[in-house]
Amino acid sequence: MSESKIDREPTRLSRGTFLRFVGSGVGALALSSCGVPFVGDQGSLPKAPHTEKAGRAREHALEAAPLEFEVGGRKLQTWGYDGGVPGPEIRVTEGDSLRAKLLNHLPADTTIHWHGLPVPNAMDGVPHITQPPIKSGEDFTYQFVVPTAGTYVYHSHVGLQLDRGLYGPLIVEPKKEELDYDREYVLLLDDWLDGISGTPEDTLDMLQNRGGSMGRGMMGGMGSGMMGGGRGQRGPGPSGAVDYPLYLINGRAPDDPEMLDIRRGEKARLRLINPSGETVFRFAVGGHKLTVTHSDGQSVEPVEVDVVRIGPGERYDVIVEASNPGVWQIAAAPEGKNGLARAILRYEESSQSSPPPTNFRPQELSGRFLSYGELRTTGDETFPADGLFGGPDRTLDLTLSGGMGNYVWTIDGQAYPDADPIEVSKGEWVRFHLTNQTMMAHPMHLHGHFFQLQNGTGKGPFKDTVLVEPHMGEATFDFVTDNPGDWFFHCHIIYHMESGMARVLSYEGR
Ligand code: C2O
Ligand code: CU
Repeated sequence: MSESKIDREPTRLSRGTFLRFVGSGVGALALSSCGVPFVGDQGSLPKAPHTEKAGRAREHALEAAPLEFEVGGRKLQTWGYDGGVPGPEIRVTEGDSLRAKLLNHLPADTTIHWHGLPVPNAMDGVPHITQPPIKSGEDFTYQFVVPTAGTYVYHSHVGLQLDRGLYGPLIVEPKKEELDYDREYVLLLDDWLDGISGTPEDTLDMLQNRGGSMGRGMMGGMGSGMMGGGRGQRGPGPSGAVDYPLYLINGRAPDDPEMLDIRRGEKARLRLINPSGETVFRFAVGGHKLTVTHSDGQSVEPVEVDVVRIGPGERYDVIVEASNPGVWQIAAAPEGKNGLARAILRYEESSQSSPPPTNFRPQELSGRFLSYGELRTTGDETFPADGLFGGPDRTLDLTLSGGMGNYVWTIDGQAYPDADPIEVSKGEWVRFHLTNQTMMAHPMHLHGHFFQLQNGTGKGPFKDTVLVEPHMGEATFDFVTDNPGDWFFHCHIIYHMESGMARVLSYEGR
């Protein structure tokens, strides 16, 4: 990797002062407009948890175990939490002290990762990096003060377990809700193969060993295939190479969709979560616009669109205004793949009783897409433009490469675990600049921090996962190293993560 330590021009404020401002939520805009530094209240800049401020105690027990999952007219064997897919909703309030005991009744090691939440390193659930894996028959209690409100997801971080049913919604309510809505629905979008076309491990094995040359019929009677193998209808799309047999919303196939009831005049908040193994979804609601209010749990200036494109690991909150009575398709279309996940929006005053056909694609799906360039953080807290304060302390240019041939995916030519850690220091302003040389989009996820996406507005959104587009697509983001430890940084396409596209970001401190 190339790394530049930039020599900074003298500025009015010391670096330490500036970083304290960022950390304490004093807006850079305020600083640059009045020129007089001042220390304000704790603002809303997402930052590392302060464990000393423990609030209400909340206990949860979760059991990871094999289970029978009825879906799409089949009964299949998979692994999940508390007997179902998705796992139970964990809903807490920011500042709560969460104690979650995980009982491992799987025939394998496991862990839980609290995706998106900047928890203390030891609670982050990455096997061998932040904790020893939890052995079969053993348990582990995760305990932390919930640092910030938003829409998150918890999931296993061992191997390919995420592509089974080992995930569930983690909703953190703010102490005081500012958004105006009447109802709330949490929608988890998933791609499903476990128990239908083998296991996730079979899938990785085929990708790694036969991926490049797999022909039609290689998957035999398993009903699906990679790279057009099973169905032979299409090759790898822009977002994925695994052609899943089923796409689910909240663990339900299109023939048995979840019903979202609503009344005319109401506002529904939809919390969209993509815990899928390998699929970018395009999400739309027939007959309705979506007003995006949060990306990866963090609030943004509202923006109205028809379609939200959501990569693995990403979350969006949207408001749907109920102004168009009827029975409407809520569609999540897997990008570059066949099939559809769906739910139904049903007005209580509608006399229409039959839902749209399972595979119905509402015209909104080809409407206006949300782009990263439209997202603006609502807070004053932003990283200043380059030049002010001399720019980042450290800029890392990282190239994403790899491909379907030998199925090795790399960051700067190195395939994890054969990869150097990214060493930084505590209290730095770090910038990552990612360039994607591959033919697939990669949802790159950083543990333990929110980063601010540089999107040309100077007010880019705070996120923890960014989809880097294929064919030399780029992404740049900034963060402050305010949560010491060893943090995983990886592609959230689980087959890429397991094939090398990962690094450890490491720094010490207390
Ligand atoms: Cu959602 Cu490293 O994970
Ligand atoms: Cu990837």
